[in-house]
Amino acid sequence: MDTILILDFGGQSCHLISRRLRDFGVYAEVLPSDYSAKEIMARPEVKGVILSGGARSVYEKNAPEFDKAIFALDMPLFGICYGHQLLAKQLGGTVENGTVGEYGQQTLSVTKKTGLFAGLASKEKIWMNHKDVVTKMPEGFTVIGKTSHSAIAAYASKDNKRVGVQFHPEVSHTDHGTEMLKNFAVTICKIKPTYTSANLLKETIKEAKDTMGNERAVIGLSGGVDSSVAAALVARAIGENLTAVYVDTGLMREGETDYLRKAFGDKGLKLIIVDAAKEYFSALKGVTDPETKRKIIGTLFVRIFEREAKKTKAQWLIQGTIYSDRIESGLTKHSANIKSHHNVGGLPKDLGLKLYEPLRDLYKDEVRTLAKTLKLPKEITDRQVFPGPGLAIRIIGEVTPERAAIVRKAGDIIESELMHTKHWKDIWMSFAVFLPVQSVGISGDERSYKHPLVLRIVESRDAMSANFAKLPYEILETISTRLTNEIKEINRVVYDITNKPPATMEWE
Ligand code: XMP
Repeated sequence: MDTILILDFGGQSCHLISRRLRDFGVYAEVLPSDYSAKEIMARPEVKGVILSGGARSVYEKNAPEFDKAIFALDMPLFGICYGHQLLAKQLGGTVENGTVGEYGQQTLSVTKKTGLFAGLASKEKIWMNHKDVVTKMPEGFTVIGKTSHSAIAAYASKDNKRVGVQFHPEVSHTDHGTEMLKNFAVTICKIKPTYTSANLLKETIKEAKDTMGNERAVIGLSGGVDSSVAAALVARAIGENLTAVYVDTGLMREGETDYLRKAFGDKGLKLIIVDAAKEYFSALKGVTDPETKRKIIGTLFVRIFEREAKKTKAQWLIQGTIYSDRIESGLTKHSANIKSHHNVGGLPKDLGLKLYEPLRDLYKDEVRTLAKTLKLPKEITDRQVFPGPGLAIRIIGEVTPERAAIVRKAGDIIESELMHTKHWKDIWMSFAVFLPVQSVGISGDERSYKHPLVLRIVESRDAMSANFAKLPYEILETISTRLTNEIKEINRVVYDITNKPPATMEWE
């Protein structure tokens, strides 16, 4: 599939660029800024390169650069913000520290309405976030747009193959940013926008067939959207050779095992249900450190899959890992390890199975669209996300069966109260977190000394960032009353009003 590569110079909205491109049907990938010309050359599907924004100054010591041999590839290049400055500098232009920065929405005077700016108005609302400015363009380049403080806010080479903008077309505050990205991808790079969910499905099924051939595979089915989509997709590719394994860890949602049986039992998918609750609680006994919990859970998962794989003679382990899991587990070059997603970071080095992750490059909303293309029932596609390590990461401190029962019941109460409100469709996740502290309350006319629960309800589009849900107090009050009435170990409920970042959605 024709592809645009985005070289990541550490910009906050780097992934937004690829999201925008994919949204209008052009496949894009984010790669580290030092991805070499040689690596690009080995991929004939690459038709253009975007240099992302970044927090550094091009003249700073050790400021990230890109492989200059890329210029020899005759490949269209599009610099955004830092990328705009770097491209200008590397082609012989000059970048200086501006006297005043430009932040937020600004007006761009479009001076040339061809190429990148074809079809746009003379004045465009754009979003900027910079202090450095390009003060001299490379030889033969023309200014195609300016703002009150940037005389060279956008430039283009004569053949339009080298373009740059000081602003951010990928953010929604740039009114016609999508049109600019489309002009680059479709007109300048000559890519046909054929990256649709139907095509993606076809290509992934082919990839799965080519990868696994006639070999057998097991997939960890958690009941969530990602593993359900991965299972349905791989089942189409290798049919009978796939066995789905659901591990009941004792840390799952209320009624999860029954749900799984109902949702997948009659879908022609071979399903094995493993009751491993005792094994999990005993492995987690006395453990309080979040990363240790994740590692223990991840390792145990894999050991169980290895066991089941042996029984079914499978050589492959399939996982529903998606892009954001890999980014947050620090597996992409510029990403820090925020937490080890159990299905990514917890794999033991001596894994006795080959690993295949068909959704590894997809964002969450793409997975949901794929679920629709696969015609998975609404009850599967519209489910709330649930983390692989399950309730263990919603219990601060030691994980015990009693504490798991508290957060499980609380989660069920919270979901059942929200499900029938108009807010449900906007909610990414709603759940309770158990805190190992106690506080004083009143029960009947008696003093009580019990645990609090944290109520966490968040809205998000793709898990990379999230806002706490601003729900009416009446709804929160109903939930709080039910939690304290129906769970005898609880006498207090607090609402988590932190966004992501700085917090993460889960507490561990
Ligand atoms: P955080 O807490 O990182 O969560 O903001 C983002 C989304 O990812 C889910 N999550 C996980 N999913 N394995 C998973 O499959 C994991 O280890 C894991 N940790 C967090 C979380 O529930 C939220 O939807």
